[in-house]
Amino acid sequence: MAADTASSGDIQAQQRSPPERQDPPPNKLHYLRPSYWDERFQGEQHYEWFKNYSHFRHLVLKHIKPTDRVLEVGAGSSRLSEDMYRDGIRHITCTDLSTVAVERMRERFVDLPGMVAAEADMLNLPFDDESFDVVIEKGAMDVLFVDCDDQWSPEPEVAKRVRGMLAEAHRVLNPTGVFITIAFGQPHFRRPFFEAEGLTWSMKYETFGDNFHYFFYTLYKGTKDAGESFSLESMAVPLSLGMEHENMDSEDYLLQSGLSDDDDDDDEERACQS
Ligand SMILES: C[S@@+](CC[C@H](N)C(=O)[O-])C[C@H]1O[C@@H](n2cnc3c(N)ncnc32)[C@H](O)[C@@H]1O
Repeated sequence: MAADTASSGDIQAQQRSPPERQDPPPNKLHYLRPSYWDERFQGEQHYEWFKNYSHFRHLVLKHIKPTDRVLEVGAGSSRLSEDMYRDGIRHITCTDLSTVAVERMRERFVDLPGMVAAEADMLNLPFDDESFDVVIEKGAMDVLFVDCDDQWSPEPEVAKRVRGMLAEAHRVLNPTGVFITIAFGQPHFRRPFFEAEGLTWSMKYETFGDNFHYFFYTLYKGTKDAGESFSLESMAVPLSLGMEHENMDSEDYLLQSGLSDDDDDDDEERACQS
């Protein structure tokens, strides 16, 4: 975005000190443990997975109105919700599974009326049906795929987790609400999950980023035609991942790759550094 068109929220996002970069854990399975995130957030004040708000702000403002009731899940130490707030989106419930992350949010939200922090498992949300207009997440769903060995045929445990998260986002959205997911996961792999039976939204996406494109998915409830559900079995022809990861954060790459044992982790680290 050109500097002369940036909003005050955008400028504040860019002027903050740069996010901290953490070493990835020794094993990707750690990303699935709440204890890993609690320990991490003890030391990490601010970190943005993938990209910060300034890179996809134009897409957020296209899909979220100032009056919308917004739920962010898996927010961690990101400033996404505060950046949206500074852009006039004033009713935001910002959640994470990590107690430490939520304590930090509460401290930061003290002077931001309308911003609420709450501990919440995105697989079992403590909110009423149809209580939000927008659910948004960045990088949290990708964590659920971290032990997926084969993107073409996700293990039942992985599929169960992802379906559980989608069912919960769908449940808490109003009948025309939108689920926004900002992710590495490619459309070909995500569509069978997004458009599975029981979910009434259809998948649309835009991309952002420089060398590597990140995906900004929008799933509007009630937009799927009858009989258009997908299944995991419908995934047929492998696509090239086509990633250029020389500028990618090593943690982003770890989440994206879907490889799970430690030797593979070492290979990925080398690939990131080369
Ligand atoms: C990759 S980080 C993304 C953080 C942040 N959204 C960002 O963009 O920087 C994943 C986040 O998901 C949270 N998380 C993991 N499992 C979760 C669950 N079941 N429910 C809610 N949050 C979860 C972690 O605590 C962590 O904050």
